Amino acid sequence: MTMKSALTVPPLAEQPLNDPRVNRASIGRLVREFYAKLRKNERLGPIFARAITGDWEPHLEKMTDFWCSVILKTGDYHGRPVPAHVKLKDVTEADFDIWLAMFGKTAAELFAPETAAVFIDRAERIATSLKLAMFFRLDPPQQAAAG
Ligand code: HEM
Repeated sequence: MTMKSALTVPPLAEQPLNDPRVNRASIGRLVREFYAKLRKNERLGPIFARAITGDWEPHLEKMTDFWCSVILKTGDYHGRPVPAHVKLKDVTEADFDIWLAMFGKTAAELFAPETAAVFIDRAERIATSLKLAMFFRLDPPQQAAAG
């Protein structure tokens, strides 16, 4: 392999997952089963119920687009996850542990272990960047200066 071709091979996370059982239908099932569990969770259920008050169908379709883009590189998702989460003031870092545990459990129920591991790895990375956007502050709040 020449240096040039090595540089043009995209990193693993940019390549579509190569598992014929992963397609929009199976990702849609993952999304639906995952959110059915989340909505029943005593901590996260009420947070979602407050944020999504009407029809859940658009959210489930958007999340299916999102996961198809992340895993299959379909480019179906065009949303902005950071502002959607930054505005959720009652969410804590510990809530992400619940979210990730339930997501991991659902992925493991539906997919082969190696495939579930790819979904879980992506979810963990995205959760880390969402948590940075939501909770990380370089400076303490500037309350003293405001008063
Ligand atoms: C405790 C953890 C989390 C909570 C409570 C949460 C909650 C929510 C809520 C309530 C919305 C809907 C916002 C709205 O439409 O107004 C939303 C949207 C979304 N969430 Fe999360 N979320 C969490 C973690 C995650 C993680 C780890 C991911 C990705 C791996 C994720 C991906 C998304 C995406 C893609 C959207 C759609 C954003 C858009 O384009 O509108 N969420 N989330």
